[in-house]
Amino acid sequence: MLNKKTFKSEIVIESPGRINLIGEHIDYNGGHVLPAAIDKKISLRFRMNNSNFCEIRSSNFKSSVTVNLDKIDRSEIEWHNFILGVLFHINAIKPNAVKGFDCIIESNLPFGAGISSSAALECGLAKGINELFDIGLTDLEIIKLSRDAEHAFVGTKCGIMDQFAVVKGQKDHLILLNCDTLDYQLIEADFDPYVVLLLNTNVSHNLANSAYNDRRDECDKALATIQKKHPEYRFLTEVPSKVVKELKKELPQNLFNRALFVCEENQRTLNAVDFLKNKAFDRFGQCLYQSHYGLQHLYDVSCKELDFLVEQTTDLDYVLGARMMGGGFGGCTVNIVHKDKVEELIDNVKAAYEDKFNITLTSIITTISDGTKKII
Ligand code: GLA
Repeated sequence: MLNKKTFKSEIVIESPGRINLIGEHIDYNGGHVLPAAIDKKISLRFRMNNSNFCEIRSSNFKSSVTVNLDKIDRSEIEWHNFILGVLFHINAIKPNAVKGFDCIIESNLPFGAGISSSAALECGLAKGINELFDIGLTDLEIIKLSRDAEHAFVGTKCGIMDQFAVVKGQKDHLILLNCDTLDYQLIEADFDPYVVLLLNTNVSHNLANSAYNDRRDECDKALATIQKKHPEYRFLTEVPSKVVKELKKELPQNLFNRALFVCEENQRTLNAVDFLKNKAFDRFGQCLYQSHYGLQHLYDVSCKELDFLVEQTTDLDYVLGARMMGGGFGGCTVNIVHKDKVEELIDNVKAAYEDKFNITLTSIITTISDGTKKII
């Protein structure tokens, strides 16, 4: 068993989680998103072991996985699949480049909180292997192979936002990413006197994976219906909401709702970025609330705990905006809160939440940080 006290690292990588200010569930619909990497991270320490096996130990799970590089298959154990998927996809791009290595993983990123511990792990592992064996993968290859690992091994047909934010994050900047072209703009994350606060429901309803893939299918179906009349649209985010409304009769109610949310959310993200650039924080905050209501009522990926946390903030003038963040069905809300009122908000909401659900609420004040990087 690998011992973290005596382990001599050749390479050390830090790989962050991410927040997303706005632009939810539209990365796989070719839309715009506004994520950033944060200072909560996974650290991965690597050394070669001159064998054909890789041993990876998770200090948090207090367990290890050993992988035979000649035979990489899916596992029944969820976290093993992040590792196996990354190894498989690096092998597919650069056959025989990966040799045996040992790795110890430690994390201060809460798991299942919607801040992308999975992308942090995948991208950190890929980056570390890339450095250890001098493989020459580009950032974009690391981003894409990590996403492919998630599709093929974990089974979530995620978009590209999480991996992109985790790898490309830059201190004090948000990333306005066009998920169709992968062009991006860095936007200064200066909310002063407001801060970005995450409130963690500490629930993760197990519907999350299957419902996520269902939403993707629903979007594909809605688009196929719209394309019968309008073959010019390649993505739902390209369809004006006016056109979705004109086609209401052709679309079953759930598909209509999904399509309407997607095109409105994309436009809302672009509007929100303009408000942010002009320091119109109150209007930026309103976009967050609208995003939440869309996710709750049209896209149907929220849950009672998330809705409760958002509702608790609506009458508070020191909170400009709040919404669920990430895939949904649990995890965190993201809140734009006046810096002098953060403690007051946490105290009040924590008490109300615990009273209502008998679940502990935790909070994270985010600091926007650099993406995955080699520190040794
Ligand atoms: C998860 C996925 C992302 C994205 C978000 C929702 O985090 O991994 O690709 O779709 O949900 O915006």
